[in-house]
Amino acid sequence: MTILDVLHFPDARLRKQAQAITNVDDSIRQLAKDMFATMHAESGIGLAATQVDVHKQIVVIDISAKGEQPLTLINPEIVEMQGSAKNEEGCLSVPDIHAEVDRAESIRVKALNENGEAIELEAEGLLAICIQHELDHLKGKLFVDYLSPLKLKRLRDKLKKQKKQNN
Ligand code: NI
Repeated sequence: MTILDVLHFPDARLRKQAQAITNVDDSIRQLAKDMFATMHAESGIGLAATQVDVHKQIVVIDISAKGEQPLTLINPEIVEMQGSAKNEEGCLSVPDIHAEVDRAESIRVKALNENGEAIELEAEGLLAICIQHELDHLKGKLFVDYLSPLKLKRLRDKLKKQKKQNN
């Protein structure tokens, strides 16, 4: 398994649109394994291929963060959304920043699994939020895009400060 490099905001490659996967083959399964390893190495609960500079529609999720509930979604599509939930989110591509985001409370998702089989699942709570967050990545969208202009300015100031400290 390979630990992949995770792109960090504001890298322009995080804005690319991911392409649908036409053939779920061994290379895709290897990509999923590497993505799980990368996500677990950084103690994340979700990772989209976009974040490792692969612009294909695949995300991996494990809300246990310990390898207990691995979920691979290929060409995922949310077909139903209900309610609303606000939760503090973070992202491996935006280190050390957390912010509340409005999401649907429960969702229904259609996707392919790592064997190329069509699956449909219902999710609520943290899993629903995580899926919505990861699917946004495939569309080039980040959770910070939901922030108010004031909060976004604070975030940019914080990143500038971090950059200065690292130089
Ligand atoms: Ni993220």
